[in-house]
Amino acid sequence: MNKRTIKFSLVSCLIGSLCYGSALIASESTQGAIDFRESVMTTFKWYLQPMGAMTKGDMPFDATLFKSRAEGLANATRLDVTEGFPLGSAEDTEAQPKIWDDWDDFKLKYEALQKEATELQRVASSGDEAAMKAQFGKTAKTCGGCHKEYRKKK
Ligand code: HEC
Repeated sequence: MNKRTIKFSLVSCLIGSLCYGSALIASESTQGAIDFRESVMTTFKWYLQPMGAMTKGDMPFDATLFKSRAEGLANATRLDVTEGFPLGSAEDTEAQPKIWDDWDDFKLKYEALQKEATELQRVASSGDEAAMKAQFGKTAKTCGGCHKEYRKKK
């Protein structure tokens, strides 16, 4: 998260003799979109983590917890995170500028997550541990699949 864009507009606004209110509003809404997408991503991580730990065996398997996290993740993926990626909002974030060159593919990668997370919710209600872990793997792969292409390495 970075507020430099807003600060920069404020400073150039004070220094410059002309002050374009609309430019300021535009950069504020860009920051809002960035905050939105980063909070949604953080929400995904919250739901994903214990299922990942259970799948890896770092945590004892708990079908009730797994089911509730699978439900939470599926609900969270019903938010359209792509709304949080307005054109030109890569600067000072981990978003790759090529997102906007490959917009259709970026959206497809998000739909892949939505589909797998919905399936994970369905499988989790069965209580079948092996099936849940297998479907978790498929779901987590869609996070990595998008990050590999469209998120900058730290
Ligand atoms: C359609 C592409 C896409 C998918 C699918 C996706 N991400 Fe992301 N994710 C991104 C991009 C792009 C960023 C960088 C955003 C930024 O820096 O503003 C990001 C950033 C993040 C961050 C860092 C947020 C922050 O505060 O900077 C986390 C955590 C994260 N993703 C978790 C996940 C998890 C967990 C999943 C799967 C459940 C997932 N993401 C699925 C594209 C995606």
